Amino acid sequence: MTSAHKVPLSAGVGLRLPHLSEVVASRPPVAWFEIHPENFLANPHACELLDNVARDYPISVHTVGVSIGSATGIDMDHLKRVRRLIDRIGPILVSGHMAWSTHAGEYLNDLLPLPYDDETLGILVSHIDTVQNGLGRPYLIENPSSYVGFGHSTMTEVEFLSELVARTGCRLLCDVSNVHLSAHNMGFDAFRYIDGLPADAIGELHLGGFTAEEDDGRPGATVLVDTHGAAIADSAWNLYAYALRRFGPKPTLIEWDNDIPSLAVLLAEANHANEIAANVLTPETRRAG
Ligand SMILES: [Fe+2]
Repeated sequence: MTSAHKVPLSAGVGLRLPHLSEVVASRPPVAWFEIHPENFLANPHACELLDNVARDYPISVHTVGVSIGSATGIDMDHLKRVRRLIDRIGPILVSGHMAWSTHAGEYLNDLLPLPYDDETLGILVSHIDTVQNGLGRPYLIENPSSYVGFGHSTMTEVEFLSELVARTGCRLLCDVSNVHLSAHNMGFDAFRYIDGLPADAIGELHLGGFTAEEDDGRPGATVLVDTHGAAIADSAWNLYAYALRRFGPKPTLIEWDNDIPSLAVLLAEANHANEIAANVLTPETRRAG
């Protein structure tokens, strides 16, 4: 099913179960919502409420259990369940992480990193093809939050993502906060990373809160942890403005999954994203989006 809604080039918020009834009842002023399908697959009541929301708002579906990086392959039963939900609500976009989180049928709680080499590239190309065929639509791949790298990687993350786009026709979800915190943790330049991404492939942006913690391996240094449990930092807003200038206006998600605040707080963060877009985008870059 294709969406009855146009893709909004403005900010939306994550729709998590604690806010579902409030959204149905109050119809808050926000351009769109993003959901994790895994929250709804075994919850018929939540699905009914979601149907109600999807009639009036564009919905983006962000999978957290598809695990395109698992060497053991895609869980086709899970993919079929996601497909049924997609066919039911007609989302504007469907996305997932470049990571692995399942092994031998076990679902792990973390999004685990991948080496960027030809062998991994071949596996991910095959898995993205499987996912796009199974879902019957393009899939957006999200850049990870990184804390460690692999010594045998032969490509940068930007080169690896660009190859995935070229070989599969997938699109990219650029998590701007992930770029910022990975740049801090891994020691690369976040702005050059944004410069290197294939701009035509960017279909969505994410902004989430992170937490600074002491780095056990480097006394006196901090590691930024992708907690999705805090307001968006000024440094991430700054990189977001830069990303908008490069990519043009994009649907931008406020991600907040832990210590979830009131809906009003989420809407204020979305409004701030829209204010930044209004300040940095020219009439020409608006059309380019
Ligand atoms: Fe994200």
